[in-house]
Amino acid sequence: MERILVVGGAGYIGSHACKAIAARGIEPIVFDNLSTGHKHAVKWGELAIGDIRVPQEIEGALERYKPDAIMHFAACIEVGEGERYPLKFWTNNTGGVINLLNGMSKTGIKNVVFSSTCAVYGQPDAIPITERQACNPVSVYGRTKRAVEEMMIDLSNAGGIRCAILRYFNAAGASSDGDIGEEHDPETHLIPNALKSASGLGARMKLFGTDYPTRDGTNIRDYIHVMDLADAHLAAVDKLASGDPLIVTNLGTGTGVTVLEILRSIERVTGLKPLYDVCDRRPGDAAALSASTAHAAELLGFRPKRSDIDTIIADAWRFHRRKWGI
Ligand SMILES: NC(=O)c1ccc[n+]([C@@H]2O[C@H](COP(=O)([O-])OP(=O)(O)OC[C@H]3O[C@@H](n4cnc5c(N)ncnc54)[C@H](O)[C@@H]3O)[C@@H](O)[C@H]2O)c1
Repeated sequence: MERILVVGGAGYIGSHACKAIAARGIEPIVFDNLSTGHKHAVKWGELAIGDIRVPQEIEGALERYKPDAIMHFAACIEVGEGERYPLKFWTNNTGGVINLLNGMSKTGIKNVVFSSTCAVYGQPDAIPITERQACNPVSVYGRTKRAVEEMMIDLSNAGGIRCAILRYFNAAGASSDGDIGEEHDPETHLIPNALKSASGLGARMKLFGTDYPTRDGTNIRDYIHVMDLADAHLAAVDKLASGDPLIVTNLGTGTGVTVLEILRSIERVTGLKPLYDVCDRRPGDAAALSASTAHAAELLGFRPKRSDIDTIIADAWRFHRRKWGI
């Protein structure tokens, strides 16, 4: 394998995937419209500026670079925004993938890895969530992702493409040398916001609900280190290249962490105390979400290596200190 087109590779997870791709001696070409991504995060290969909503732009890039595989990260990701602007989400998250798949069909490119999400499950029947659980997404975001999954499964069954559908739980952390990390704007994710609050640069945090049926009353989520996610993408590409037509798997650790455990880890690792106010629960938030990891282990040989919470926090902190100049 010589070249991978990383669609959305200027964003958080895509840029870490590029780093891992380059470390394997493969050339990552980033295709991105920089709507939420950053030029400075494209460090390991060419940046082709373009928009997947414009068929000619993605087709042109596929023809020009003739990649051996595609990793597709580009999407609108903020769940609340999806409820307010559903057409924006359907156009980008689902329509954009139709353009990509049409381009792949025209140019004969077969292998694609897709960033899906645990949001496709909706409220889980049981945890840890296995891939056999029904998909009943409860958000516009989750439905746009599930629609892509169904489309890709249809195409794979018809022999058109080989695809890996990777359902991430909560991506977190940063590359351990601190050169790239999480830079969403606005940032809605817990760890960067808690670090900002702890360092005195951000507002006090809001802790939504302390009366969940969990070990300390706060939500449990399954945080997976972004470089572990990147490794899983490479394992998935290898599996597709070996002829496997369809992979559908969770990517998580199987071990959930509560919000208070994260805040305690931040105190341990940084020596700083995140300040927070307790608020009511947010409607729709599940008490606990965690991934069954057996399928990813069996199928991809994937086992997270850096996803214990203190390593995630230490790597995120290294990146943010550098970014904030503290
Ligand atoms: N961050 C998480 O915890 C998480 C969890 C589950 C799934 N995911 C999925 O992983 C993927 C990457 O998430 P992220 O956190 O890196 O998001 P991000 O916003 O940092 O990255 C998305 C990238 O896609 C680009 N992009 C968006 N629309 C585009 C378009 N029309 N044309 C070209 N480029 C476009 C953006 O500029 C950005 O660089 C998304 O598909 C998201 O749904 C993320």
